[in-house]
Parts: sequence; C-alpha cells; structure tokens
Amino acid sequence: MTAHLIDGTAIANQVKEEIQTAVAQMQAEHGYTPGLATVLVGEDPASATYVRMKQRTCEKLGIRSIGHVLPADASQAEVIKLVASLNADPTINGILVQLPLPKHIDEEAVLNTIDLEKDVDGFHPVNIGRLAMKGRDPLFIPCTPYGCMVLLERSGINTNGAEAVIVGRSNIVGLPMAMLLQKANATVTICHSRTKDLAEHIRRADIVVAAIGWANMITGDMIKPGAAVIDVGINRVDDPSDKRGYKLVGDVDFDSAKEVAGAITPVPGGVGPMTIAMLMKNTLHAAEIALAKK
Ligand code: GUN
Repeated sequence: MTAHLIDGTAIANQVKEEIQTAVAQMQAEHGYTPGLATVLVGEDPASATYVRMKQRTCEKLGIRSIGHVLPADASQAEVIKLVASLNADPTINGILVQLPLPKHIDEEAVLNTIDLEKDVDGFHPVNIGRLAMKGRDPLFIPCTPYGCMVLLERSGINTNGAEAVIVGRSNIVGLPMAMLLQKANATVTICHSRTKDLAEHIRRADIVVAAIGWANMITGDMIKPGAAVIDVGINRVDDPSDKRGYKLVGDVDFDSAKEVAGAITPVPGGVGPMTIAMLMKNTLHAAEIALAKK
C-alpha cells in the first residue's frame, strides 16, 4: 500500500467533538439548545436506519432530536403540512426530510417548502443556486459533499489549481461536489454514465471523487500516481464468507487503487461517517442563525 489512508471515522469524530463543545457553550452562554426534526415517510428499512443513526448522533452531541414518522400512503399535502408546522416552530432549527420519498409525492414540492434557514440538508433550490454562483454562499452545504471537502482539507490535499474529476452527477453528491471544488479553485470535470473515455478523464485527475453507484468500477490503472481518491460509493456485493452474505464496497477498486493513489478513503469508514457529522454541523449553524435573530 502506497496511499495514505484517509480515516473518515477519525476525522468525523474530531468534527463531532468540536460540535459537542460548541453546543455545550451555546447552552452555557445563551441557554439555547439546537433542535433537529426528522421526517420519515414510510418504512423503508434503510431510510429508517439512517434516520435512527442521525437521531442517536444528535443525542450524543447534546442536540435535541424530534422524530416524525408518516405512513407510506401519506398524501403530499400531509407531508407539506407537517413541514409547514416545523417551519413555524421556533424550537426547531433544522428540518431533515429523509429521501427518497414514496413515488406519489413530488420531492421537489416538499423540499421547496422547507424554510431556507432550516434547510440543513442544503437541498433547497435557492441554497443549490447560491452554491453554483461565484461570490455567493449557500446557508447550508449538502452534507455528503461537505464531508468530502472536510476530508480533503484535513488531509492536507491542495485543491488550488488541481484537476478534479467527479464521476456521477446526482443532485445530492456529484453536482454540489463539482460546485464546491470549483469554489475551492479546482478545474472540474463532471463525468457520468454517458461519458466517452471515462478512464482518460480520470487519468488526468489530481482529485477523483467517485459517486456513481457501481461497485469497484474505478481501478488502479485508471488513476494518476499520487492522486487523492474520495470514494462516495456504498455498494453491496455477495460475500459468502461474511455472515450477512454480503460486504460493502465502494465505486473504487480499493486494492488496486491504493497501490497508485497518494491518498484514498476506504469503504466503509471513509465518506460515510462524515455525512452525519456534517448534518450536525449544519444543525448547529441553523441554531446560530436563529440565535442571532433573537
Ligand atoms: N437520502 C440519501 N442521502 C440523503 C441525505 O443526505 N439527506 C436526506 N434527507 N436523505 C438522503
């Protein structure tokens, strides 16, 4: 192994400790406790697990967590009504509507309803629009790409003038990641499932961000020696030797990539733990915004 291993668990723990200290200080100085409301519609087991992890982390850091669960057949109007009541509730600083929503609900209509100052996921179109604009900043940065940026920063990886290639163009990861790296003065290429000569693009990159949802797709021979590789993928592959019958792997073939890259995130234990840590950071920031208005 030649690459430096970027330890997402350790960096996420550092970030969470900083937040816990800031929350305690806010309570001591202002008697104010940040509050995060989660909204889960339906019973998708993966979504329920993610929401539970977010709630547990809140509790550990001293953030109040208020969980709302609606049945899978809840109407769009009911979901919007709940979001509106959370917008109006001064004890709630952040609102997180877990995605995906059931098919009969228009996700954008729901996300558009969230108060900009409570949009801790950073998915409101105005926050995304500000992220895209030079000289403007969103109130909140989407948590997963925010976490990737913190991993790069805290691993000492220079983005200034760097060639960055992002594989994947989702609204949650690829697109905001491209805008963040551009703001950090990288030269950015977004690749996706229709890109021709994907390997040629990746070979030019000083920074590769893989977020395409395709197990082990990026192999060591595609990576420029010394590049930083951030793997956002979480894919299940069969593994009879594991008692669950599967294991989790990224979009990057770790074993071959680690021999060529300068730095690389593992899966699990890389980007994953950062997402929740950055949600907590956004919730603290939402409380700071609310407190400043008091
Ligand atoms: N579903 C998958 N990722 C996310 C996320 O970052 N936020 C929300 N709300 N839902 C998700």
